[in-house]
Parts: sequence; C-alpha cells; structure tokens
Amino acid sequence: MLVSAAEMLKKAKAGHYAVGHFNTNNLEWTKAILTTAEELKSPVIISVSMGAGKYMGGYTVVAALVKSMHDSLKISVPVALHLDHGNYDAALACIDAGFTSVMFDGSSLPLEENVEKTKTIVKLAHSKGISVEAEVGAIGGTEDGITADGEVADPKDCALMASLGIDFLAAGIGNIHGIYPADWTGLHIDVLNDINAATNNIPLVLHGGTGIPDDQIRAAIKNGVSKINVNTDCQLVFAEATIAYCAAGKADPSGDNKEKGYDPRKLLKPGYEAIKAKVKEKMELFGSVGKAA
Ligand code: 13P
Repeated sequence: MLVSAAEMLKKAKAGHYAVGHFNTNNLEWTKAILTTAEELKSPVIISVSMGAGKYMGGYTVVAALVKSMHDSLKISVPVALHLDHGNYDAALACIDAGFTSVMFDGSSLPLEENVEKTKTIVKLAHSKGISVEAEVGAIGGTEDGITADGEVADPKDCALMASLGIDFLAAGIGNIHGIYPADWTGLHIDVLNDINAATNNIPLVLHGGTGIPDDQIRAAIKNGVSKINVNTDCQLVFAEATIAYCAAGKADPSGDNKEKGYDPRKLLKPGYEAIKAKVKEKMELFGSVGKAA
C-alpha cells in the first residue's frame, strides 16, 4: 500500500537525513525509482508534475500505474505518490485520484489567498490521510515551461504557512529548478536556519535538487531539510544514455541489429539503468539508504 509522506518525513527530520522526491514521466522512470528504493531499503517519494500527469494520460492513470507496479513488484519500503507543484484544481483532482500526498503551490498567489486555499486542501486531504506540502517564496527556474525567478522566503510567512496544519513546507532559499547559472551564489543556509527555528519542527523541502554542491545539500539537511526534489538530473541522464545508445549504432536498423534495434525495451534500457544509478547516488547523498530496513 502506498503511504502518506507525513510519517517518513517526520522520521527523516528526527534522524537528520532527507527522503528523495523523484519525478516520474513514464513506466520506465516509475520502475527505476521503485526498484532502486527497494534495493537500497530507502523510503521514497515518487511524484508527477501537472505536465507529466497530462502526458501520462491523467492522474488516475498515474495512480493506477504506481499502485499496481508497487504491488506487483512487491515493494516493501514506504512509498508516497505525490503531486508536484499542483495548482488548486490539480490538488483536488489528485486527492480524488488516490494520490497519498499533494503539493498545493500557491506561491504565485497573494499570501492571503495562498493561506485560504491551503487550509481547504489540508482539511480535505487530511480527512483521507493524504499529506500536504505548501510553498512560500517561489522556487526559481523553469519547470513545465513556466519560468519564475528564485525568491528567498520570509521566515514570518513560513511560520504562518506552517501553522495551517500542512505536513511539510517548501521555502525558497535561493534554490531554482533546472541547471544553476554560473554566477549562482548558493543556498541561503542562514535564512534556512531562521525558517527552521520559526516553523515548529515541520519538515522542510528543498526543491531544485539538481546541481547543488554536496556540501550545501548536507548543510541544508543539517538545518531542517527532510525532503529533496530531483528531476532535471534524471532527465539528463536518461537522455544522455539513450542518445549514446543510438550514437553507438545499437539502434541502427541497417546494421546487425536490424530487427532487435527497434526493440523499445532495449532502446529504453540504458536510460532506465541511468536513472537507477542517479537515484542511488542521491539516496546515498541524502542519507536515506537503509532507513526502511
Ligand atoms: P530539479 O529539476 O532542479 O532537480 O528540481 C526538481 C524539483 O524541484 C521538482 O519540484
């Protein structure tokens, strides 16, 4: 059974490690994330953005895929199925579709509206045992074609959001989605420390987990981050592995692989293996390996 992310993140916060949140886009990514978590005895959060949900055929399809694969592969570690950066309607749809965790991202709304909508989502989600992530201070970068500048959240706003009954809070501390620019000045660990002190021990979430130096990841975990979101890194390794496979002529229909070269399972395997290796690397860095043993 898939579980809410509340308990696993409380444990992570108490144990000073972080649970990896990995976005999925298809069956191969889903399988790579679930099997690696199981092999490493690590809890995991598997997530979809609104765009990926649409691509995969809708949230009910995502929920059915993740649940049935989880059961069929006999995954025994805690797995939460989470909506990443959902708007209000998407959060409601995922609560209905059987997700076990949702992020309502009202960070682009006026704070009062963000607060009101977050409260409604919390009430509904909690009545079904579903965990809720909220956000203050937009995370910069580009995701699903939407670009936002990075913000540094005000600890007072974070305290207000944390008081609404949410289970974990994403707060901008200079992190952005995607590749960091060469002149990026790093995470504001001092502000994170203030946010942590102001938010009553709620697990904090670090978005934009691709490209942050390892020492800053460790410092973030030390200062209250218990969930780290990774997407771009998996996209990159998946694409690179697939392109390398094709460039090596292994999918060349005119060569020795005339028929086999078209086998989609073979074509997608290098990307699948590359995602598994990336998920493993992140779980080791975040310290979650063995925590579900
Ligand atoms: P990256 O794409 O930078 O890894 O960030 C992922 C993320 O924060 C998803 O919410």
